[in-house]
Amino acid sequence: MEIHIAADAEAGARTVADVVEQTLRETGELGTVLGLATGDSPVPAYTELIRRHREEGLSFAGSRAFLLDEYVGLPAGHDQSYHRFIREQLTSHVDIDDAAVLSPDGAAADPVAEAAAYDRRIGEAGGVDLQILGIGSNGHIAFNEPGSSLVSRTRVVALTPRTIEDNSRYFESPDEVPVRALTQGLGTILEARRIVLTASGEGKAAAVARLVEGSVSARWPATILQMHPEVLVVVDEAAASQLELADYYRYARDLEVEHAVAGQRV
Ligand code: F6R
Repeated sequence: MEIHIAADAEAGARTVADVVEQTLRETGELGTVLGLATGDSPVPAYTELIRRHREEGLSFAGSRAFLLDEYVGLPAGHDQSYHRFIREQLTSHVDIDDAAVLSPDGAAADPVAEAAAYDRRIGEAGGVDLQILGIGSNGHIAFNEPGSSLVSRTRVVALTPRTIEDNSRYFESPDEVPVRALTQGLGTILEARRIVLTASGEGKAAAVARLVEGSVSARWPATILQMHPEVLVVVDEAAASQLELADYYRYARDLEVEHAVAGQRV
């Protein structure tokens, strides 16, 4: 893993945006397959990408995108659907074809079949070049809640009371938060060629400490990312506050900058 403890939210957002920009430039005319997270964490990076598109000509033309998850029972047009969220926060503001921004269909008559079909669609697109992730306070990535199989595929899951509570801020009341979701599995996410996870705030500190320094376990699903060779973790000081080896990560990062070596890992 590469751990980047950013000085502030803007610096963290620029780091995430840099990786997206690099991936878009590297894949060029082949078209990048992006894996997009919703939720608050990646929004500053999305805002920075929109700025680069408008002011610096960064282009998403020819790219495709797959969302991580969707609430079961919410149609695509629903105010709180992730389908809608990603359009409002990123994709409708850049030059990606709207039809190329895919998410699991939360209103599918057969959500189990929809999950399997969505997993297949990702494979048929050639897999994800760059997956952007947030992390839940309970250590979930996408909606792989504690106890998820570490090799799970896209499927229907029950959301934990903690996730429902965490996400109720987007709804009028916790009662309105759907209790099930369609989510890419941990095994599906691990097939992405590169992963960037971003987190901020003290509420994420315990999950971030487990993610980076804990034992790999279904109890903290994000820990499976330790088994992926290309993961960048971008956190602010508050989210980094429970990392035992934070000084080492800062030192390694400074050394990387000083020696201009890209991609130094711990
Ligand atoms: C969203 C997703 C979730 C969030 C996580 C953190 O598509 O898959 O795993 O990344 O719940 O949410 P925020 O960023 O709102 O704290």
